[in-house]
Amino acid sequence: MNDNLHQLRCFGCGSRISGAQAQADFRCADCGELFEVEYPGWLERRGHDRPNPGALKWLWRERRSSGEAPGQAGLAGLDQSGVWRFREVLPILNSFGNAVTLREGNTPLYHLPRAARALGIDQLYAKHQGMNPTASFKDTGMTAAMSVARERGFEWVACASTGNTSASMAAYAARAGLRSLVLIPEGKIAWGKLSQAMDYGAVTCQLKTDFDGCLRVLTEIVREHPIYLLNSVNPYRLEGQKTPAFEIAEAFDWNVPDHVVVPGGNLGNSSALGKGFREMYELGLTARMPHISVIQAEGANPLVRSLAASRGEKLEPVEAQTRATAIRIGNPASWRKAARAIQTTGGWCLDVSEAEIAIAKAELGAEGLGCEPASAVTLAGLKKLRAQGAVAPADTVVLVLTGHTLKDADYTIDFHRGTLLSEAEAAGHESEIAGLRHAAVVVEATPDAVLAAMEKASRDGAGDATA
Ligand code: F0G
Repeated sequence: MNDNLHQLRCFGCGSRISGAQAQADFRCADCGELFEVEYPGWLERRGHDRPNPGALKWLWRERRSSGEAPGQAGLAGLDQSGVWRFREVLPILNSFGNAVTLREGNTPLYHLPRAARALGIDQLYAKHQGMNPTASFKDTGMTAAMSVARERGFEWVACASTGNTSASMAAYAARAGLRSLVLIPEGKIAWGKLSQAMDYGAVTCQLKTDFDGCLRVLTEIVREHPIYLLNSVNPYRLEGQKTPAFEIAEAFDWNVPDHVVVPGGNLGNSSALGKGFREMYELGLTARMPHISVIQAEGANPLVRSLAASRGEKLEPVEAQTRATAIRIGNPASWRKAARAIQTTGGWCLDVSEAEIAIAKAELGAEGLGCEPASAVTLAGLKKLRAQGAVAPADTVVLVLTGHTLKDADYTIDFHRGTLLSEAEAAGHESEIAGLRHAAVVVEATPDAVLAAMEKASRDGAGDATA
């Protein structure tokens, strides 16, 4: 690790250490807070030595469109990664030759015309991070932190997870030739995610506890054993996860959108995107920052409560309950960093109900963009922000969709069969839900029976593309 290029600064007491000095649990030895990566060289550079924003923008775009011969080794191979093509703002490795990549990033930014129309705004987009190699946003952070693990010579890596981190970690560990250990809450994760961890060869332990309990147990293990912790308390994860902010800015020709809306679970992602937008602004790549808003599920809303009760000074853990299992987290590690991202950008933090999440997910599906329930909180939250007047008709909004719809197919099927929500949860939303459900029907194997099913669907309005 080249400690001349980066250092770690404690988010609590501000003390600075080299990357090599970090404790196994990535907590500050003095105050117990988390660290973030900083690059002292950026501020010290003056005049000609300062990175030239125009040259960087040109270089990053050029790399994206560069060709690559199969099996090409060395740095040229990294240009195809939507994380490492931004490596000038990611100098965390001694040698970029140690990078472990699956060509993550470079994910699509989709326009959402129907949802925009329904909300009365012009410019609504979805940055679909589910289009990453393991189908969630975790890959952009995992490539960065796994590369550090490899460079430092670890044999074992580990994470506690609601499913996506473990799927991503297992894949990148397999690519790096490292062994991986996964701790997940028993029975509370989607099958798609569990299957990935198995396929990529992780040692997978389902613990009789929740995510917060898994992280607690893992922290005890890594303090005693040479295992590299890859949860988002690891500050290098967030370095990789900041790069979608660069991609979003790039897609808008470096005029950042007015709002970026992110789901909140362990609160690493909102923190990372906040850092990315801040660094771009400080480096002179962009002229302002977007409002960053974080949306939680009602049953897993510790940050919403913290901001309301103490303006983000204190956080009381909650016992988390939501069918959006990815964000079923009651004691989020990065809450201070996320609170800063919201507060310094003038963003909002609010929560949405189980019915609101299910409806928003079906609406995104109806635009041809499936996503995980946890990702759909962004659209559900945007509806509330719009109703409160926080988002104006002329504003440009980007929703960050964090996971692919196939991660949790059971949730989708239950919604369309009408078995997902209880009557109490659906109360007041019945007609909206009915208009979005498209359950499969069993019919006789005859053309007449199929045509009759089509007619019935047209009469009912189901599948109506203009709805
Ligand atoms: N969306 C999805 C699909 C997720 O998997 C997660 C977190 C989040 C949103 C929330 O992101 O934690 O950075 O605030 N999943 C973690 C995991 C906790 O273990 O896969 P966050």
